[in-house]
Amino acid sequence: MSAIKAANTIIDSSSGEETNTQDFIEDLIGKMTLSEKIGQMTQYDASWDVTGPPVQKDDIDRYEKIAEGRVGAMLNILGTEATREAQKIAVENSRLGIPLLFGYDVVHGYKTMFPIPIADACSWDLTHIENATRIAATEATAAGLNWAFAPMMDISRDARWGRVMEGAGEDPYLVSKVSAARVKGFQGEDLSKPDTMAATAKHFAAYGFLNAALEYNTTEISDNTFLNQVLPPFKAAIDAGVSTVMNAFSDFNGIPVTANSYLQRDILKKELGFKGFIITDYSTISEMVVHQYAKDNKDAAYKAIIAGTDMDMESRVYENNLEALVNEGAVEEKMIDDAVRRILTLKLNLGLFDDPYRYCDESRSYLLDHVEDHHSKALEAAKSSAVLLKNDKNLLPIRKSVKTIGVIGKLADDKDAPLGSWRARTEAQSGVSILEGLQKHVPSETEILFAKGYTLSVEPPTFTQEVDLSQSDDESGFTEALEVAERSDLVLFVLGEECFQTGEGRSQTFIGLKGAQLKLLKKVYAINKNVVAIMMNGRPIAEPWLYENIPSILESWYLGSQSGNAIAELLTGKCNPSGKLALSIPRSIGQIPISYNHTRTGRPDPIPGDPNFVFWSHYSDCDKTPQYAFGHGLSYTTFEYSNLKLNTDTISMDESLTVSIEVENTGSYDGEEVVQLYINDLYSSTIRPVKELKGFEKLHFKAGEKKTVTFTIGWKDLAFYGADRIFKAEPGEFDVMVGGNSEDLLSARFELTA
Ligand code: BGC
Repeated sequence: MSAIKAANTIIDSSSGEETNTQDFIEDLIGKMTLSEKIGQMTQYDASWDVTGPPVQKDDIDRYEKIAEGRVGAMLNILGTEATREAQKIAVENSRLGIPLLFGYDVVHGYKTMFPIPIADACSWDLTHIENATRIAATEATAAGLNWAFAPMMDISRDARWGRVMEGAGEDPYLVSKVSAARVKGFQGEDLSKPDTMAATAKHFAAYGFLNAALEYNTTEISDNTFLNQVLPPFKAAIDAGVSTVMNAFSDFNGIPVTANSYLQRDILKKELGFKGFIITDYSTISEMVVHQYAKDNKDAAYKAIIAGTDMDMESRVYENNLEALVNEGAVEEKMIDDAVRRILTLKLNLGLFDDPYRYCDESRSYLLDHVEDHHSKALEAAKSSAVLLKNDKNLLPIRKSVKTIGVIGKLADDKDAPLGSWRARTEAQSGVSILEGLQKHVPSETEILFAKGYTLSVEPPTFTQEVDLSQSDDESGFTEALEVAERSDLVLFVLGEECFQTGEGRSQTFIGLKGAQLKLLKKVYAINKNVVAIMMNGRPIAEPWLYENIPSILESWYLGSQSGNAIAELLTGKCNPSGKLALSIPRSIGQIPISYNHTRTGRPDPIPGDPNFVFWSHYSDCDKTPQYAFGHGLSYTTFEYSNLKLNTDTISMDESLTVSIEVENTGSYDGEEVVQLYINDLYSSTIRPVKELKGFEKLHFKAGEKKTVTFTIGWKDLAFYGADRIFKAEPGEFDVMVGGNSEDLLSARFELTA
């Protein structure tokens, strides 16, 4: 009898009775051979897309393996036709007919591209973020998938790392909120609906703390940083019901994460109570042999299962070794059963036992053909993600008096770069370029001139290959660009990176502008001072001359399919910028890792009256503050903060405090503001950050409008893991600070009593 029929008779989805569900899973496990159980713990790559090195020469017939019941999940298999074919084999040809999971990296959209995750996080708009992920899930499930390898929630503070583009920045609170919104977007209210899919919290743990930001490197991280900075987003994702967790390529305290019982069993499964399953990152089990941590694949399989690793992505080490380990008595079968139980539970929650073809519904394929609503949401998301870093001469929004706009820069004409890295199945060259956006949104009587100016990669870069920047010093386009600058009332200089300079495997030692861009920018500025820089990049760019000299700067990151339209609406003032940085922009590469929430030092300030006295925490050749701080972002209007009030100046552990502040739009445009609340624990048993984000609200204000914004603070907002590894708040004084970025804040003090 096939498991599908069994499920239909046993599970009453209307009553959703837990015991029936458990009985069904236990019954099924009872029927499985050891080899079939290990099959559930094995994921095969179908290689539609390449996201890692091939593990072995591939003459294996995957369909045969599926029929033998030796595969539980696949990755990188796309399209309902292909997933249906594979599913049919699993359901009809394997002995127990257990359906497959189909996973894929749905990082910022599937067909319709939304802003890259770091940009999306800069919107601080949790509704937009959840909606964007909802649409990504709608499209991905229409293409046969039921499992997203996202969101990435690694805290990232080192712009050399190519994967800063893929996360939500440097702050545990913001990353937690954004990650929970993304999990909800993927999974919805009911995981068994055909347009929802399982989400993955990754990479557990501390993958954002790679030494020197070198991909696949080791990490050095204290327990304090791990527990208080890295862990909170994973906790938030688990609280939001995330189905799976992916581990990491790195080691933690000298033990590869895949073999790390402390991380996987003690913290994740026990302390955080995670009930889903842990999937390895791509071939991390076999890589433990290369790490020289396991002496061979069998040893690696042993170490991984003991540490609670449930599913093997692509290395086929479980498939080839676990059975022998159990038969020899080295591994208890109940460990295998626990992993299988977790995997089958997800399949059940996805509704696959009711209908294994739920996600192979060809009639939903219209959802992959430029759906208007998906694009209008992508446009909204893009508009709220861009960050106006500077607008000194109010060059923006573009004034009516501007009759000729000179657009300079190869990236302005680029329909591919805005789609960003990790772009799933969007079509190459399908983004709206900045030039196209301007042509649509600028009044027809305004003349637009364009010159490419500089070159980055000559060939369009790709996801798997190193970007070739060898010709980026080419200056042959300078003359034309300078002519454009001379003839224009306003220059829009588009600069940054090729989109595949960031993403996995894209660490860099230099984070300034590559090639001839800066040289050309300086020449243009020498001719025409009315320059607006529009930045397109996946990592913060450290380039002090740019920030100090160019009067207006818009950080657009990669805004996805609708990028050019969003940028044009922002430049022309049809929309008012409202993004705020989710990570600091350093002045120099020498400052990284950098974040606003660094711990307090004993010598933070210069000695008063003696500026040359050196014995304090500083750099001799560079200011220690970032170029632009976390939370920074301007608007065409201005906001004034006043009247910070607390309803009481003392609370006990079981009470809460209300913080209120008046915020007024004092400019002449309607606009949105992200009101941010930070705290500082004045004295504590371990040294705490100088300030920590603990609340935010993104609100719309009409010109002249004033609102009172309130926040509530309770002990949990003040708590942290101390040296004893206990999460608690310590009695004492706290500062609460509120403002529009992490630096300009009004402050008040209160006391927490025991
Ligand atoms: C990445 C993961 C990704 C996996 C599957 C790995 O190289 O680190 O984040 O989900 O490949 O594509």
